[in-house]
Amino acid sequence: METQICCIGDSQEENQAVYRQAAGIIRAGGLVAFPTETVYGLGANALDEAAAAKIYAAKGRPSDNPLIVHIARQEDLYALASEVSEGALRLAEKFWPGPLTMILKKAASVPLSVTGGLQTVAVRMPSHPAAARLIRESQTYIAAPSANLSGKPSPTRAEHVIKDLKGRIDMILVDDTVDIGIESTIVDMSAETPMILRPGFITKEQLECVLGTVQTDPALEKDLEEKAVPKAPGMKYKHYAPAADMALVEGTQEDVICTINALAKEEMRVGKRVGVMASTETAAAYHADVVLALGSKKDAAQAAKNLYAVLRTFDKEAVDKIYAEVFEKENVGAAVMNRLIKAAGHTIIRSGEKK
Ligand code: TXA
Ligand code: MG
Repeated sequence: METQICCIGDSQEENQAVYRQAAGIIRAGGLVAFPTETVYGLGANALDEAAAAKIYAAKGRPSDNPLIVHIARQEDLYALASEVSEGALRLAEKFWPGPLTMILKKAASVPLSVTGGLQTVAVRMPSHPAAARLIRESQTYIAAPSANLSGKPSPTRAEHVIKDLKGRIDMILVDDTVDIGIESTIVDMSAETPMILRPGFITKEQLECVLGTVQTDPALEKDLEEKAVPKAPGMKYKHYAPAADMALVEGTQEDVICTINALAKEEMRVGKRVGVMASTETAAAYHADVVLALGSKKDAAQAAKNLYAVLRTFDKEAVDKIYAEVFEKENVGAAVMNRLIKAAGHTIIRSGEKK
């Protein structure tokens, strides 16, 4: 299949033609990748079963992993959900449009192929103007997972989408103002107590300010127990994975640097190519083939923004092994650590204990 790659630029007139064409593809049951404020999405008409099925085929995604339905107007929530609690409404008012996805009991009109057979539906109203305009012009709701091949890091730049999906989808809308860099926070509002199923840029503390008590899916806390079954089906798959073997290294800054340098030296000695995922503060202290800084240790939001591009750079550099520093699990740091732990397949080395 030929994939059209269209840039969203400054000219209103040209943009109008691009959106019209993209919306036409969505209405005709095709696939369009588009930027959002979190990561690029791979969109199809959410009310069209056959179109949704194409998403699974293009990504190589397991069919029990449900899709998020994207809307452009808050009131569309009522078309997709059979029950909207007062808490859900308050969240929508506070955080939409923005990087928050809510799980609600689904309305009959939402196909089970979109919800992975579940009686609940995930709904998000993105704030990125290109996403909002595409949804509006399509005059439907857009089901969209992240626009990567299943198992690969989510795309934060058009080049990532092109690498994974060119030739497999109809169109890619290009606008690299994808500022957050990690996927939306998912909160389950279908049960008695709200529960975070995937941490993101909107933090537990922010949700608690609106809702009172918010739980976190216990499976997410058990970082080291791969067998814990998370409530969001997609969270159980090996995800966000670079091609190389990756390990996180915990401990004091000095111990971490020392441990990583010793491990890297040993690997390089036997001919392996080693990457280190460092911070701006520590990057100069490492001796490895490829050293990349995620950002400042003090700024988890910056790390979130760079994370997936850095993982993909390690792939491009064809390293065999990646050692990564960890972040404090506070605020956005919790979301960064959730992605890092998955990327590392739960391998964590505690420096000072084990070399
Ligand atoms: O920021 C985002 O959320 C991006 C952009 C494109 O909007 N989308 C995204 O979609 O990350 P995806 O498909 O990569 O991740 C959706 C997650 C999966 O883990 C899936 O299992 C979960 O949402 N999910 C969807 N519907 C669900 C439901 N009804 N109940 C529980 N989890 C659900
Ligand atoms: Mg994804």
